[in-house]
Amino acid sequence: MLNNEPRSPAPHENPTYRALRHFWHPVCYSHEIVDKPHGVQLMGEKIVVARLGSDLVAMQDRCPHKGAALSLGQVVDCKLECPYHGWQFDQQGDCVRIPAREEMASVMNRKVRKYHATESAGMIWVCLADEPKYAPPEFSELDDGEYRVLRGNSYDWSTSTPRRLENFVDFAHFAFVHDGTIGSRENPRVEAVKVWREDNVMRFDRSGVKEPGVGKKKELLGLTDDWIEPTNVYHVTMPHTVHLKRIFPNGKRYVLFMAASPVDATTTRSFWWQARDFGTEAEHDAFFMDFEDEVLAEDKPIIESQTPIQMDLAGELARQEMPVRHADIVSVEYRRWLLELTNELANV
Ligand code: FES
Ligand code: CO
Repeated sequence: MLNNEPRSPAPHENPTYRALRHFWHPVCYSHEIVDKPHGVQLMGEKIVVARLGSDLVAMQDRCPHKGAALSLGQVVDCKLECPYHGWQFDQQGDCVRIPAREEMASVMNRKVRKYHATESAGMIWVCLADEPKYAPPEFSELDDGEYRVLRGNSYDWSTSTPRRLENFVDFAHFAFVHDGTIGSRENPRVEAVKVWREDNVMRFDRSGVKEPGVGKKKELLGLTDDWIEPTNVYHVTMPHTVHLKRIFPNGKRYVLFMAASPVDATTTRSFWWQARDFGTEAEHDAFFMDFEDEVLAEDKPIIESQTPIQMDLAGELARQEMPVRHADIVSVEYRRWLLELTNELANV
């Protein structure tokens, strides 16, 4: 090769990407699935999600008759009906009705491929492999009356899911990417944190960092200093979900829950919630939403500029990207764990 820029592998040649089939990933919010089928995409596969009676199902979004998208159809008597010729599929994915020839359904015995589907944290999660590794993450503040909880709009970035996750837990970027919002160029130093594992969760806490008490936030918190110094408690559920609880000096709490989903190897859809137990009146919602949007808009162009887009942890990338001792400890530990999972699951 003429230049030494790390090559982005084809997705199927990237073991880290292949391993992701074994995990639950969010594909939409729960409220989006009511009485109609809903089309989503996960790891390049088109999937239809629907509620058939009390069963939540996820199936390949392709009718075995002539390939039409089942997500364009409807739910009829707890069956998923294809929009093209009205074939109907039950909760198991079995074709139980062929209207043009009723007697043929049992003879032809056709089936749509089914995937695991479940609900957690106000989201629909799908796993493409036979046996999901780990349980889907939970978001306990969702039903906790002490909090005002807001659902963020999902957003797509042209990046891979591990890069999006790393960005969320990258301490050294706050001073530069978020100078004036959640960081300051005056405080670029990153102290080491202790990182440990609890089941399928990577844990670390961070405190002692001053950040700007921007506008209304300071006021709603009832703090007067221009700098605020929260304790940040992180739970990273492997491989792509972060629960960040920020505890302010007066005990008030602000929570961010973000789950990144691999739409394909180079497109990440992030689903998220925020929760706060101060300034809980609805009139303040717009401030908190706008603030997060502003922070995300600061990250997006930087993360989309990273090359290669994919993280092939077993390939060139590990030799090309150099972590800084202490400052990048979270990234080092995250990549170490993701590589272990890659080695365990990529070829299963
Ligand atoms: Fe679905 Fe014909 S393509 S019923
Ligand atoms: Co950021």
